[in-house]
Amino acid sequence: MSTGATPSEKIDFGACRAITVTCVSEIGWASNDGLMRDIAAGGGMAASQWHMPWREENARGSCSLLEIDGLDGARRRFLIDSGWSRDYMRARFAATGVDQMLRAGEIEAVFLTHEHMDHLFGLQAVLELKPDITIYVPSTFTDDACRFIAGADVPDAHAGNAAPHRGALIRLEPGRVHALAPGLAAVGFDLPIILGVAGEQSLYARIEHKGLVAVTGCGHQGVERIMDFAREHLAEGTQVYGLYGGLHLAPFGPLSPEKEATVREMGKYRLQRIACNHCTGLPAVERMIELGYPVVRGSGRDGSISDLYVGNGDTVTFD
Ligand SMILES: [Fe+2]
Ligand SMILES: [Fe+2]
Repeated sequence: MSTGATPSEKIDFGACRAITVTCVSEIGWASNDGLMRDIAAGGGMAASQWHMPWREENARGSCSLLEIDGLDGARRRFLIDSGWSRDYMRARFAATGVDQMLRAGEIEAVFLTHEHMDHLFGLQAVLELKPDITIYVPSTFTDDACRFIAGADVPDAHAGNAAPHRGALIRLEPGRVHALAPGLAAVGFDLPIILGVAGEQSLYARIEHKGLVAVTGCGHQGVERIMDFAREHLAEGTQVYGLYGGLHLAPFGPLSPEKEATVREMGKYRLQRIACNHCTGLPAVERMIELGYPVVRGSGRDGSISDLYVGNGDTVTFD
């Protein structure tokens, strides 16, 4: 199902029993200072990530496994993003069992939220295990990103994909609701993002008798747009009770006064489970905890920088 959202209709994409999200890796890069040096050397935040002299030793990557339990009892699996460093992602896939699932064909698709390096450049580590896996991208993906998926070396950016994609590449139009499974829908947001990227898509899961869970990559579109879209366009959209993923609040260090205000305003959504990680940033998570928000804690293992939130190897279930 792919349905245009108009203000007068609430779109029903079905319901599921539960979703479980395993954080394969939420660490985008090792060092903020190192990342900032590379961005400065490549021309700044408005320059293209495809021509930036990234240093591979600083690369890590964002990737999660989403498992959805249907009302029929069947379990389906989607990989959300594919990380950055190929070696690092191979290790994370091995540590979380994602490698075996990919080989066995138990993960039906990769859902790429946006084309930032820390969400896309590790794709080879997926495709060398399952070259014909279905990939969902926002239709705003650049030609550079599409060439990369098809198999391209990008020496400028010290990146490459030596495992050409051989499966279906499905481009999802922003502003519409695309049902990937009963109770799981993708929605794209068209917006300019730093490093020459356009558009990010999120997932919404609708849990029977409970409400909606929003799942993000970096959340560049902002938590407000994610919540507004649900309220205006989705059935039961006023009951978003859970949130997983990156919220791009303090991705490079301190929490700015503006983003601190965003954190405070989040209180109005009365979320019941917040499993934020990645570019949410530790200072933002600490502020949420100070404000009494229900932040799901993690284990702090496998390279995670804190046990205050769901990190590498941690799993959260929304049911
Ligand atoms: Fe990111
Ligand atoms: Fe991003």
